[in-house]
Amino acid sequence: MASSNILILLDTDEQANSFDRVVAVDAGVDQLFAYSRVTLEQVQSLVHGAIFTRAPDELRHTAMFICGSDVDLGEQVLARVRSSFLGSLSVSVMLDANGANTTAAAAVIAAGRHLEFDHCSALVLAGTGPVGQRAARLLARQGASIRLASRSDQRASASADRINAAVKPPQEVVPCVITDEDALRRGLEGVDVVIAAGKAGVELLPASVMNEVTDLKVAIDLNAVPPLGIEAIGVTDKARDIGAVKAYGAIGVGGTKMKIHRAAVASLFESNDRVLDAEEIYALGGSI
Ligand SMILES: NC(=O)c1ccc[n+]([C@@H]2O[C@H](COP(=O)([O-])OP(=O)(O)OC[C@H]3O[C@@H](n4cnc5c(N)ncnc54)[C@H](OP(=O)(O)O)[C@@H]3O)[C@@H](O)[C@H]2O)c1
Repeated sequence: MASSNILILLDTDEQANSFDRVVAVDAGVDQLFAYSRVTLEQVQSLVHGAIFTRAPDELRHTAMFICGSDVDLGEQVLARVRSSFLGSLSVSVMLDANGANTTAAAAVIAAGRHLEFDHCSALVLAGTGPVGQRAARLLARQGASIRLASRSDQRASASADRINAAVKPPQEVVPCVITDEDALRRGLEGVDVVIAAGKAGVELLPASVMNEVTDLKVAIDLNAVPPLGIEAIGVTDKARDIGAVKAYGAIGVGGTKMKIHRAAVASLFESNDRVLDAEEIYALGGSI
């Protein structure tokens, strides 16, 4: 009898979220074990429960999914999961804390439908959050030059340094402080693509400023909660033309995000050694 596919959700939040469980079922998972309030100290025993229970050639039918709203903690859980494997005794694992990896991958894939990244300049507004940092990292890895914006010089520099340390030269993410419309205009000068990755319900780019920009080719807003991040973009826009700009709203990007999420979960059961973080999820999304 073939083993059933089991997905073990490690959620660091108080209550295991319903979103990732629904997607897991839609991705074809047979059995779902959801753990909430997962701490680093608990990870090893959960991993041992996954790797010691089935024959080595059946381990591809068990996988782990790390979620929860704290993306930094999610990254630490991923590192702990990996360090708890014993050689080839491992299961595939995916990190999508706060939906950051699948959302950033979907945004960059949307932009890539209209641009060659190695000749492109990008501005990531509020790029200090988990989604913005990952979008900036993915764009930098594709060869784009990036301005990473924040209201704070210190936060912009810290995020840019973190990405520059992860991405090999010559790409460089440049911090950019935006606290008013003049700074926003300067940040947008010569930019081909803007991604607004601000907190839900915060407008970052008014229509009056976007209308003045001449070089922009793609604008993507990931905030679905009014007021939206880019005023001129509707939440369901998907490659809508606003003058010369292709516009995407959060729900316009969300369809791709959901497809990537389902495909990534399904792919976990193809082998017992996959590790899906932002880059792997982006690569997988590009093949859908
Ligand atoms: N479609 C989807 O499936 C999906 C999934 C996940 C997330 N999202 C959306 O993607 C966006 C980014 O998510 P996230 O979790 O990375 O966001 P986040 O951490 O909540 O916020 C991102 C950044 O927004 C800036 N910010 C916070 N409050 C602000 C304010 N009052 N005014 C101006 N800027 C402010 C901060 O940057 P500075 O303080 O450095 O300026 C912060 O680092 C959100 O809108 C979220 O709802 C969508």
